[in-house]
Amino acid sequence: MDLSAYVDRLRSGAPPKFPADANSLAFAQNLDSQDSIRHLRDEFILPTKTSLKKRGLNGTIPSQHAHANGTTNGDAVDDTGIYFVGNSLGAQPKAVRTYLDAQLETWASIGVNGHFSRLDASPLTAWQDLAEDCARKSADIVGSSPHEIVVMNTLSVNLHLMMASFYRPTAQRHKIILEWRPFPSDWYAIESQIAWNGYDPAEAMVLLQPGDDCLIPTERILAAIDEHAHDAALLLLPGIQYYSGQLFDIPRITAYARERGLVVGWDLAHAAGNVELKLHDWDVDFACWCTYKYINAGPGSIAGVFVHERHGGVTWAAEDPDKKGRPEYRPRLTGWYGGDKSVRFNMDNRFVPTPGAAGYQLSNPSAIDLASLSAALSVFNKTSMRELRSKALVLTAYAEYLLDGILAESNEATPLFTVLTPRDPAQRGTQLSVMLREGLLDDVAEALEDNGVLCDKRKPGVIRVAPVPLYSRFEDVWRFMQILRGALKM
Ligand SMILES: Cc1ncc(COP(=O)(O)O)c(C=O)c1O
Repeated sequence: MDLSAYVDRLRSGAPPKFPADANSLAFAQNLDSQDSIRHLRDEFILPTKTSLKKRGLNGTIPSQHAHANGTTNGDAVDDTGIYFVGNSLGAQPKAVRTYLDAQLETWASIGVNGHFSRLDASPLTAWQDLAEDCARKSADIVGSSPHEIVVMNTLSVNLHLMMASFYRPTAQRHKIILEWRPFPSDWYAIESQIAWNGYDPAEAMVLLQPGDDCLIPTERILAAIDEHAHDAALLLLPGIQYYSGQLFDIPRITAYARERGLVVGWDLAHAAGNVELKLHDWDVDFACWCTYKYINAGPGSIAGVFVHERHGGVTWAAEDPDKKGRPEYRPRLTGWYGGDKSVRFNMDNRFVPTPGAAGYQLSNPSAIDLASLSAALSVFNKTSMRELRSKALVLTAYAEYLLDGILAESNEATPLFTVLTPRDPAQRGTQLSVMLREGLLDDVAEALEDNGVLCDKRKPGVIRVAPVPLYSRFEDVWRFMQILRGALKM
């Protein structure tokens, strides 16, 4: 079967049915040879076994090619690392250096004029327009119009800003529905927003509990929405749960909660750049995401926010056709950069928001951060989320198939590991969370490190394996499993 047939099967909900010889390097390489986006790997700098041992700066940048250095007989050594940690920090796109250099040259050469001028041949717009440019380039990633996206701040800050606008509790309706184990920052943000508004978090945080398998069935979420339709103001969930890798049914849950009068927000930290999203069509009220995981803009990079167009309107009273007074708009915390460009520099303290999500911006965003994000997004603009997701479906199914092969072969009374992530490809992104049998984590972690593998480990025993389609190969998945087998003494 060819690669596109596996994609079709997985998209239609059928099992991939890998053949008996699928556990071989030749099979993996054959899939790679059919991968229409395999060239995108060259857009990235991936750590190598050698570079991972680096202890000081020496002006070199890792390159993935096998080289003859360090061998006694002159044979090439394979220095290729395996970067399966894009769910935590994405690999560095080569474009980032180019864009940052352009930014530094612009700043050095024309100084403050860079706010409004663009140098010829620069990949960047004038700094004033960079956030808008990044919003335009993010539209396919989250499935919205560019006007529904604003690029600003960082994820936790944006969660607070969005809750300031979208969590409007009353004595009757002030609860927030969240999951049992949100990322700590989401928990703190929700808890503190409730307290800030004068309510008791212990009473107002409605926690969705998982089953024994760590997963939260959609039906359970819908039941909780029904139960709290009279007293919950907001539903705030992750698109993908960071620990289990469960992808929630965003359209169904959103529609169900909105029909019952709840405002619906999503934290898409683990979903943006990972799975296909259609935030506009799904009628989501707001969503926030970071850009350092699947979007690859660098550690702590500037974040993204979606605000549905119905919340971005700016209207003027009929008796004020010349727009001299104050417009009506959704209440929010404001700053001068949310002000419309036409009046932003009037300095007259009359806030007139930019229509759309951009009207939620507060500060002049860092042009250095935006340059880095713009570079990372330029790689996404060479493909599409549909193409990335198609490849990811097969990459992850292949990883799951090889993991199951290890389990079947080991045939131990207590399995060596359990895959926590849903088995249904429609309910997960690229990440598989693998819970190791007690006592195995240290050996596995050591073997991965010794072999140049970067993947995420969570105590007491979970490794999160994320073969990101932009820069991962089927060969990497196969090699990873060989290393894991070794670590499990198979
Ligand atoms: C689900 C989730 N929420 C919030 C955060 C915190 O993000 P930041 O430190 O960018 O505010 C993270 C970071 O990894 C995350 O994964």
